[in-house]
Amino acid sequence: MSVTSARAHPNIALVKYWGKSDESANIPATPSVSITLSDLVTETTVETAERDSLVMNGEETADTKIQSFLDLMRTQFDVPPLTIVTDNNFPTGAGLASSASGFAALITALNVHCDLSLDRNQTSIWARRGSASAARSIYGGYVSLSGPEWYARQILTAEHWPLTVVIAIVSEGKKAVSSTRGMRISRETSSFYNAWVASSVDDYRNALEAIDARDFDALARIAESSCLKMHGVMLTSYPTLQYWLEPTLACMNAVRNLREEDIDVFFTIDAGPQVKAVCRSEHTRAVVRALESVPGVVRTLTTGLGQGAE
Ligand code: DP6
Repeated sequence: MSVTSARAHPNIALVKYWGKSDESANIPATPSVSITLSDLVTETTVETAERDSLVMNGEETADTKIQSFLDLMRTQFDVPPLTIVTDNNFPTGAGLASSASGFAALITALNVHCDLSLDRNQTSIWARRGSASAARSIYGGYVSLSGPEWYARQILTAEHWPLTVVIAIVSEGKKAVSSTRGMRISRETSSFYNAWVASSVDDYRNALEAIDARDFDALARIAESSCLKMHGVMLTSYPTLQYWLEPTLACMNAVRNLREEDIDVFFTIDAGPQVKAVCRSEHTRAVVRALESVPGVVRTLTTGLGQGAE
């Protein structure tokens, strides 16, 4: 029986997606911009089998999101029962975008394994149906995801602006509230939600301009603002979505202090406590040193920007 393998890298949003305008088609309420990471990787193998099964990081497991995705694909394509084996070389489900690389790798493998003949745009759309951030992991470098099509596009390759990302791991535990559920709670309860969605349009446009001009300061300002506004929405949701831990705040302050010392760096944080510091490559050592000295930081991961799914 043939086996098909694919690999994809997680991405980190600089302009965040938080909220859906259509939950059943998984259409974001906000346009987003991301960078794809080179050194973090998901490798996924699919093999035709008698029944569906999933082995994630060496353990057989059930995942309702992946099962619903397969069920959805089967409404349109001939997808046989599959054994899916998937491995991440980084913590899973801890706010490091494992669902982004996971669905991007899965649809890329399925496209070949099941002769789906999806082009890149369609692959990105299907990845989005699994997890909207996954649409962006189809591409490398700097990537946008916006309407009305809601498939991702590459803005700039990694080589054209090779920034570095230092991830401060603060906790390797799984997140308490999934993004999908968190977004629903935010839309239904945060009085900041509509302002957040409205403001994302300018953030998106300004980020595209900053990336095009390779203007670090402008991108830093937009990215931190988008991150803090998203967390403002999360914190004002009921029940509150507080993904930060104490070391998360300490890392944010460490990044601000580095900037006072003329180190080009900014932070971004997703639905988890880890802090991602984006910096110019020549400043990597200073950023690693500063973050590793923050009490509560378990370790750091350093990565450049990488390629799309293959
Ligand atoms: C905070 O793509 O995981 O990382 O579409 O419901 O699967 P679903 O959500 P998901 O949300 C990612 C949210 C974020 C910000 C971002 O990556 O843009």
